[in-house]
Amino acid sequence: MAGHAREVFYHFMGTRGGVHVDKNCAKERDPPLHNKTSRYHHPHFQLCVAAVCCSPPLLPLFLSRSLVVAGRLVKMTNSDDNRMNELKAFDDTKAGVKGLVDGGLTKIPTWFHHPPEKFPVASNTESTMIPVIDLEGVAKDPMKRQQAVSRIRQACETWGFFQVVNHGIPLSVLDGMKDGIRRFFEQDVEVKKEYYTRDRTKPFFYHSNFDLYSASKLNWRDTFGCQLAPHVPKPQDFPEVCRDILLEYRSNVMKLGITLFELLSDSLNLHSNYFRDMELGSINHISCASHYYPACPEPELTMGTTQHSDASFLTVLLQDHIGGLQILHNDKWIDVQPVPGTLVINIGDLLQLISNGIFKSVQHRVLANLRGPRISTACFFGFSVTTSKLFGPIKELLSEDSPPKYKETTSEGYIAYLRAKHLGRDPLQDFRI
Ligand code: OGA
Ligand code: NI
Repeated sequence: MAGHAREVFYHFMGTRGGVHVDKNCAKERDPPLHNKTSRYHHPHFQLCVAAVCCSPPLLPLFLSRSLVVAGRLVKMTNSDDNRMNELKAFDDTKAGVKGLVDGGLTKIPTWFHHPPEKFPVASNTESTMIPVIDLEGVAKDPMKRQQAVSRIRQACETWGFFQVVNHGIPLSVLDGMKDGIRRFFEQDVEVKKEYYTRDRTKPFFYHSNFDLYSASKLNWRDTFGCQLAPHVPKPQDFPEVCRDILLEYRSNVMKLGITLFELLSDSLNLHSNYFRDMELGSINHISCASHYYPACPEPELTMGTTQHSDASFLTVLLQDHIGGLQILHNDKWIDVQPVPGTLVINIGDLLQLISNGIFKSVQHRVLANLRGPRISTACFFGFSVTTSKLFGPIKELLSEDSPPKYKETTSEGYIAYLRAKHLGRDPLQDFRI
């Protein structure tokens, strides 16, 4: 892989709870070559693919034993060995989950079914406890800064999540970004299709379920992704419908990133530029995943985003008013209630590791919803891979009383861990001393 592509790719791995694989691994998992006359049988398959492919007058055609998938005529019979083909047919529509919903689907395909949840959902009172931190004046007023720093420390130790107000990103940019994401997903499928790919080294990519072929249960969600830094995106690589706002959001998020990392270093009693000076990671390595969660006819059967923790250092999340984001706190799911104008900030695994466990990378998920679409965008401050890069607990945080809790690891070791993480391990288990 060329240096740049490789760097960008691994950087982006930080974006999805680290469940994914590198390019070579992804190849191994590619679906079998699509057979144009594949045969299909699945209780829900008929409905869902019909929904994608047929406008309502064509539905009866679908109920016969053939259907059109991505412009091809496909025959169906009663074969059990069909999940891969079904997924491939869904993938081939390039219309995503939104395509299913637009077709009028009322029962969701079983690939989206999730097992019942083991942790209860907390009461509303507990939900209001996630800190909302005011960043007004932190740059100039030492008192306000100190207050924000100590609240941030407490939030990162206790919750791993907080929301920020007066963060400096104008409301018009936040609203503009949500509108831009909506425009992308709601444009003509024929135009949107051009960006549909599972190749996450592309400067801009759109798909449904990055792990479509490897996940045991799918998410009710479509996503586009792009790299925002260190390489300055070429405007022409971004779709026209959201190009300008993506670039504007990018420069705003980069500024906010600098402020947040300064406050985080202060809260760890490191010098303010600690993260800014850190080579190959954090402030200058940003990727973005923008999600579109269509309204779901059977939300209790599925999930918008499966439970995960973010693999990178820090995430800045913009969510709309619909709600559904929850974090796991003391074995209960707690709502991160949308507060207009705020951004949600959360600690990723890598910051847990280098902060020697002072900051917590917390599991979170997004519920599917009858109402929708829900729109969100996550900017991940990640890392760049050079094989020699070592990640380990920050030396300044260690002492006789606070020995290292994690082993140092190379970027490669960390990446191997990311790959294995989907096996259901605790975050950072491999690195515990
Ligand atoms: C993510 C994520 C939450 C959301 O992309 O890692 O957790 O609200 N997103 O979409
Ligand atoms: Ni996440």
